[in-house]
Amino acid sequence: MGKLSKREASIRNINAHQKLFQCPICESEMVIEDKGAIRCPENHSFDIAKQGYINFMTKPVHSMYSKELFESRYEVIQSGLYDKVHEKIAKLIGAETETILDAGCGEGSHLMKITDRMNHRVIPVGIDIAKEGIATAAKHTEQKLWCVGDLANSPFKKQTFDCILNFLSPANYLEFQRLLTPQGKVIKVVPQEGYLQQLRKQAYAQSEKEHYTNEQTVNRFKEQYTKVDVHRINYTLPIDPKFLPNLLGMTPLGWHVKNTDEIQIREITIDLDILVGQ
Ligand SMILES: C[S@@+](CC[C@H](N)C(=O)[O-])C[C@H]1O[C@@H](n2cnc3c(N)ncnc32)[C@H](O)[C@@H]1O
Ligand SMILES: [Zn+2]
Repeated sequence: MGKLSKREASIRNINAHQKLFQCPICESEMVIEDKGAIRCPENHSFDIAKQGYINFMTKPVHSMYSKELFESRYEVIQSGLYDKVHEKIAKLIGAETETILDAGCGEGSHLMKITDRMNHRVIPVGIDIAKEGIATAAKHTEQKLWCVGDLANSPFKKQTFDCILNFLSPANYLEFQRLLTPQGKVIKVVPQEGYLQQLRKQAYAQSEKEHYTNEQTVNRFKEQYTKVDVHRINYTLPIDPKFLPNLLGMTPLGWHVKNTDEIQIREITIDLDILVGQ
């Protein structure tokens, strides 16, 4: 038998995990069709793309994140810049977790790198409203569950995930509550004041945007959960100058830089709060 196409392999994998999904329109069970769609009894149908992801959007959304931004993010994350963060999160997720949803997963590398570091097998699922992000994720990985979809209207059954990861992305706490198993946890990663400070200093010199506080976001998180732990992770790594275009390209901060040749950065700081809520 010949090698399965990416789409065929993905259809098999989605079939094996069919129980995770529900129709985002009518909330019914979904079945996978051989020809590459996932459909509910009401005939709401969503395509499985040739790259292997499922598109659950009912209308196209214009994302402010481009394919180039996600490719830059991919390169930066693959370079190991966030490895210590991944290590920490893999430990925080713990041994009892079977299913993990990365809500706002972008190009998917954080989820992949975190699950690679775990000592047991888990079912990782990524959802993002930006098709460009999910297409990049599907391009770089085999047989993973990548979904284009809106967190406000997600295509998953209630109490499906033991852990919801929300890495530098907007949260939807009502939906997180619906999707979490009773003992499940939400792990939200938010920037701390030193995050990418070298970049921010150059891009926003003399502007109020140079300063950042995550206080509001952290307080809002604390209101949602009875038990909250905050783990700050802060380190600085040297940067190879040829890597700078990817670093500038991976964040909206880069949009404000007029002449990239003028940017001189030799090191970069990762400063994040990892919030764990239960
Ligand atoms: C700053 S990016 C972070 C992406 C990724 N977690 C990372 O750290 O590389 C924020 C992401 O949230 C996604 N997003 C925003 N609103 C969303 C929604 N309503 N549903 C799903 N994803 C959403 C964006 O498309 C974008 O990919
Ligand atoms: Zn339906």
